[in-house]
Amino acid sequence: MVSRRGFLTGIAVTSVALATGCAGGRSAGSAGAAGGTRALPIPPLAEATVDAAGVRDFRLEARAGSTEMVAGKATATWGFNGAVLGPTLRARRGEAVRVRVRNSLAEATTVHWHGMHVPAHSDGGPHQMIAPGGEWTAEWTVAQQAGTLWYHPHPHGVTEKHVYRGLSGLFLVDDDEADALGLPNRYGVDDIPLVVQDRRFTGDGALDESSPGDVGLLGDTVIVNGVAGAHFDAGAERVRFRILNGSSGRLYHLGFSDDREFHLVGTDGGLLPNSVSLRRILLSPGERAEIVVALRAGEPVTLRSVPVTERAGIDRAAEFGFDDSFDLLRIRPATDLSPAAPVPAALLPMAVLASRDAAVDHAFELKWFMINNQRMDMNRIDMTIPVDSTQVWTVRNDDNWPHNFHVHDVQFQVLAVDGRTPPPELSGWKDTLYTPPGVTYTLAMHFADYTDPTIPYMFHCHLLLHEDRGMMGQFLVLAPGQQPAPMTMPMDLPSSGHGQHS
Ligand code: C2O
Ligand code: CU
Ligand code: CU
Repeated sequence: MVSRRGFLTGIAVTSVALATGCAGGRSAGSAGAAGGTRALPIPPLAEATVDAAGVRDFRLEARAGSTEMVAGKATATWGFNGAVLGPTLRARRGEAVRVRVRNSLAEATTVHWHGMHVPAHSDGGPHQMIAPGGEWTAEWTVAQQAGTLWYHPHPHGVTEKHVYRGLSGLFLVDDDEADALGLPNRYGVDDIPLVVQDRRFTGDGALDESSPGDVGLLGDTVIVNGVAGAHFDAGAERVRFRILNGSSGRLYHLGFSDDREFHLVGTDGGLLPNSVSLRRILLSPGERAEIVVALRAGEPVTLRSVPVTERAGIDRAAEFGFDDSFDLLRIRPATDLSPAAPVPAALLPMAVLASRDAAVDHAFELKWFMINNQRMDMNRIDMTIPVDSTQVWTVRNDDNWPHNFHVHDVQFQVLAVDGRTPPPELSGWKDTLYTPPGVTYTLAMHFADYTDPTIPYMFHCHLLLHEDRGMMGQFLVLAPGQQPAPMTMPMDLPSSGHGQHS
């Protein structure tokens, strides 16, 4: 049996080979040497075949395995096509994709394409359960700008557990506009995905799934791409990190050990209108940030998470992990770095969808594991949205806990924060937004293309325990004249959806 250590090292070497056509020149590092670090595993790019109709076909299989998350400890985990996490799916804007998902777990799960504009039957939410041993096919055409999206299970009430056990992967969208900007884009070489998650282990190395508290399963060990204590040997002057907060409930306040500036170039839905120079970025669960950092030859630096400073209105900040610090990744630049172009100031222009004083279509109040005083009910539709409409929503956290807000099917713009212009970190497309207590966010989004009178999309807090406890609602997108059809319970729905494009 191949050890997990060997497997991870294999991933790192393979992805470098894939990206450069040659496996030489970069060492995979010494895995798990006492007190040392291990080479950062790079999730492999998913294999795909393109069929006669031009559809890019992917296969995912959810299965159980064993992972050396902490060096020297075997931990039972779940993964897609491997023991933990999943391969990186990658497709271009305009491309038709199909993903066949097999569930080889002993319990039902789903796979949701977080951030993707997809038909409801392919969304992979709680209404598209895949029974143990079953299969489900999602199919859509990628119709959004280049960005860093992700996929993860969404079974009602147990999403936290399924994600915690290791089921998550990235879905990268590419397009010509992003390619033309000259940002670092060699996957695994100078364009590096970082899936950041926290875990807690029992004495025998198992994942500790006990006592989630109120924030969820808050871990004391941070793993990046599935391992704790990783290093990355950089060979280029500038490196782009695509960072996903894939944790259940923990926020990360990210920066570098020497407080150097970096450029934020993208958020959840793709590249920003303008790059933003920052020293810190806050990421709540489900959010992504694409940053580009300049490195100095031979001078290691550490990507770390420092205490969250924005805590107004949060009681029990320590209990929510706001005081914690972690080293995430040791970056070790070579003594001779390949040159890289500076980050352009202007990236991708974004047309504003609505004015900040436009009439509000829906207002959401987050409180006590509820949204607008209601807990999620699979058989209740909370609202219907006319297709081709631009909606203005407000969201406010009326609790003294951290929450955030995620919407399926769309990317949204933040029009205003308490009526004022949002900070530059919120100047681009978002699908998940941190909502500290007492602040009103005004969002604009456009619902296009897909309608379905039966299968809803979700909106919810992406702190996964909160979502599981019912901090979630459902909406249908309807064609003109279409009436909502009665809901049925999830397992009665067809497990595979085709057609139904409006
Ligand atoms: Cu990341 Cu409803 O999900
Ligand atoms: Cu989502
Ligand atoms: Cu919440």
